[in-house]
Amino acid sequence: MADTSSRPLAGLTAVITGAGRRGGLGEAIALRLAADGANIVLSDIGRAVDAATPGRMIGDQQELQAVADGVRALGGAVSTQPCDVRDWVQVNALAEHAVATHGSLDIWVNNAGIGYIMKPLLEVEPHDWAAVIDVNLTGAFYGLKAAAAVMVKQGRGGRIVNIASQAAKSGFAQAQAYTASKHGLVGLARSAAIELGPHGITVNNVCPNHVTTGLGAWQNEYFAAQQGKTLAQYMDAMTARIPLGRTGLPADTANAVAFLCSPQAAYITAESMNVSGGEEPH
Ligand SMILES: NC(=O)c1ccc[n+]([C@@H]2O[C@H](COP(=O)([O-])OP(=O)(O)OC[C@H]3O[C@@H](n4cnc5c(N)ncnc54)[C@H](O)[C@@H]3O)[C@@H](O)[C@H]2O)c1
Repeated sequence: MADTSSRPLAGLTAVITGAGRRGGLGEAIALRLAADGANIVLSDIGRAVDAATPGRMIGDQQELQAVADGVRALGGAVSTQPCDVRDWVQVNALAEHAVATHGSLDIWVNNAGIGYIMKPLLEVEPHDWAAVIDVNLTGAFYGLKAAAAVMVKQGRGGRIVNIASQAAKSGFAQAQAYTASKHGLVGLARSAAIELGPHGITVNNVCPNHVTTGLGAWQNEYFAAQQGKTLAQYMDAMTARIPLGRTGLPADTANAVAFLCSPQAAYITAESMNVSGGEEPH
């Protein structure tokens, strides 16, 4: 991997999935990795394709380009490629795009995720369950497999980071599939790290607690209404549970990803790092 200069990721290429929304975690991760010198491949589904990907919840092509413009302003090489992470062919093509456009693939961040299908357990339909698992867990597996294949072939190591969640460590009502998918990422990273370690490829999860992105804002409104609280009351109660006294910021997650991609994290793999202001203790 790269050296420990002020741009420790110079000469490396990072792919970030689900990064086509302004204010989303993917955008923050892209900005941070670009500031550290990486070439950036930004990807998102780009359009609503079925009931599981409603237009109001996903990033379209125009928004993806707006995110790309912001990252490009930092001066590095940036490209975009639409990719539905549920489709192995598209995910593989995304990995190939990185190599064809930037010359290598060194960092892969599985950020795409859906957390907007929330229902009481007895109302969850098989298609609700499948929709969440398909994106959050199967999509991350496809990304990991496609990235690892390229990284192994390149023979110079690599970094794979999944954006999991506090829901990778604790249970949450009305979020059975979400919680199971994020717990699944813990097992995926632990297993993949064993096989990819000999190739110098690390696999880790970052586990944010609540971050008020587009997805996070939707969840706030949903649960505030469920609990008969105003949004302000709901947020105050949430903040009171967090030892550091505030909800997470996209930059908090991005900083953790940057650390795991840095030379300083060369000996860290199979981990699931909380970024929760102390709310999640294990
Ligand atoms: N916001 C939070 O509080 C929070 C907390 C913990 C973990 N996370 C996780 O962080 C990640 C990013 O979430 P966010 O809060 O920035 O929300 P977001 O909605 O802004 O980002 C999720 C992105 O995934 C994309 N996406 C959805 N389905 C896709 C598909 N099939 N293929 C490709 N892309 C697809 C969406 O278009 C969107 O751009 C998710 O994995 C989420 O589960 C978020």
